[in-house]
Amino acid sequence: MHRMMYVLALIIAAWIVAPVHASAPKAGAKSKTKEPVAHIFASPVEVRAGRAIAEQTCARCHGVDGISVEASVPHLASQHADYLYAQLLAYKDGARKKAQMRKSIKAFNDDALRNVAAYYFSLDLPHTAGSQQAASADAQLTSAGDVDPEQAGKAASTGCASCHGKDGNSALPGMPSLAGQNLEYMVNAMQAYRAASRKDPMMRPAVALLNDDTIENLALYYALQAPKASPTSADGDASAGKPVATACAECHGADGNSTKPDTPSLAGQDPRYLINATQAYKAGMRDHSAMQSIVSSLNDDDINNVAAYYASLAPTGGTARKPLTTAQWAERCDRCHGLDGNSTDPQIPSISSQGEEYLAKAMTAYRERDRGNTIMRAMLKPIKDVEIENLARHYAGKRRKSVVFVTIPCK
Ligand code: HEC
Ligand code: HEC
Ligand code: HEC
Ligand code: HEC
Repeated sequence: MHRMMYVLALIIAAWIVAPVHASAPKAGAKSKTKEPVAHIFASPVEVRAGRAIAEQTCARCHGVDGISVEASVPHLASQHADYLYAQLLAYKDGARKKAQMRKSIKAFNDDALRNVAAYYFSLDLPHTAGSQQAASADAQLTSAGDVDPEQAGKAASTGCASCHGKDGNSALPGMPSLAGQNLEYMVNAMQAYRAASRKDPMMRPAVALLNDDTIENLALYYALQAPKASPTSADGDASAGKPVATACAECHGADGNSTKPDTPSLAGQDPRYLINATQAYKAGMRDHSAMQSIVSSLNDDDINNVAAYYASLAPTGGTARKPLTTAQWAERCDRCHGLDGNSTDPQIPSISSQGEEYLAKAMTAYRERDRGNTIMRAMLKPIKDVEIENLARHYAGKRRKSVVFVTIPCK
């Protein structure tokens, strides 16, 4: 037993001492004053001094036990002292903005801040601290929180099939296929029909009442379906259309499969639809200044031929990817934040059992650049609100382990 405690102490020492060494002068570097070696365990005197500060100043928001009294205030209990101290410095020098926090710590010197950080680290965070709801339904939540957007899109698409075909592969002349079409382009197109800035008597009623989420789900569903070349026949001459298409490749792709998310692919599209669309730009019936000017010089034969050419090419499908599930996101977060959000790196915060609302707020702040951190910003740049909510609930429901050592057995 004693031996185990000793080994544990060594591991803790190695773990906590790392950042101290990182900032200490390198061996051999010239330094006139010898730096005193900082002891790495907070003494009971320091922890008690930290508690006194917490009672006087921090408790009314963070609780004397480190469990915050308000949903927008983070719990501090059992959070790594290194991380807490770094955040206090960030508030002090203005890198992290929150007037309440800056005011609260202004008067304290460095030792005081280190003591209060050590004090809060010394406390336990109960499992129920994340949110009552999350804690009581821990197991179910990860899966139940997720709505599969592709399935939701499929469910919403039943009314579209009569025109756009099963899985978005149309067999009707004049009717566009949607399977494998670029996601962003389809979202824009549906929003344009809804706003009546793109006019079509069939599409307007089909999308008039859809909200943005449904439009995105529909676009995702169609973008992920395997496209088939149109079975309808073309009037034009594909080989005569090929030279016309050199002017189009820059945007629509050399093979008619556009890699620009906001530009439609044309490969394998129904030729009648391609003709109608091109004529609509030419006649100014469909708005888009670039397309209007490009097709203004084409005559009817050019238009029929280039349509036949694009219809003859093989569609490869768009660049859309299925969004990550909460479990897939969490796998990425755990790489830094530790197993189930219990960080083993003193510089990286534990996020298990942290308040659900605070977690969501912090993630949103990184995404919006309100809280500066390049790592977290890169991680969360593409995240959607609903994914933030799911992740916040996921981590709020995970049990906090104050000290985490998951050992790999020796050989
Ligand atoms: C008036 C309320 C209030 C008081 C008093 C207060 N805080 Fe805070 N604290 C907050 C709020 C709100 C936040 C979250 C701010 C944000 O989103 O940046 C916060 C954030 C923090 C954080 C960042 C935690 C994290 O997970 O990133 C630390 C550390 C902290 N406070 C420590 C303290 C200490 C130590 C004291 C006492 C010296 C104190 N606070 C006093 C309201 C308060
Ligand atoms: C009654 C037939 C009909 C129904 C039902 C219908 N559409 Fe359409 N849709 C069309 C026609 C016709 C066009 C081409 C209109 C144009 O020229 O702008 C079109 C165009 C589109 C486009 C743009 C394609 C492109 O390449 O620009 C999208 C996206 C679309 N529809 C999605 C849907 C969705 C999603 C539904 C179901 C919610 C739906 N449509 C229901 C007839 C229909
Ligand atoms: C500068 C980039 C660019 C070039 C070059 C270009 N296009 Fe486009 N094209 C677009 C964009 C962007 C759209 C979508 C515009 C919109 O939202 O209405 C589009 C739409 C279309 C559509 C409608 C597709 C649909 O699904 O509704 C057709 C057809 C088309 N282009 C044909 C052509 C042809 C033929 C050429 C060459 C002669 C060409 N384009 C050159 C950018 C370009
Ligand atoms: C490459 C490492 C890394 C990855 C991956 C990562 N994080 Fe972080 N995270 C950090 C660091 C470092 C911080 C502290 C940043 C700071 O000082 O603001 C942080 C801070 C946070 C905070 C703020 C905690 C607090 O108490 O204020 C939250 C919430 C968070 N991360 C959630 C996540 C989620 C959710 C994911 C996965 C989508 C994730 N992180 C992925 C490194 C990472």
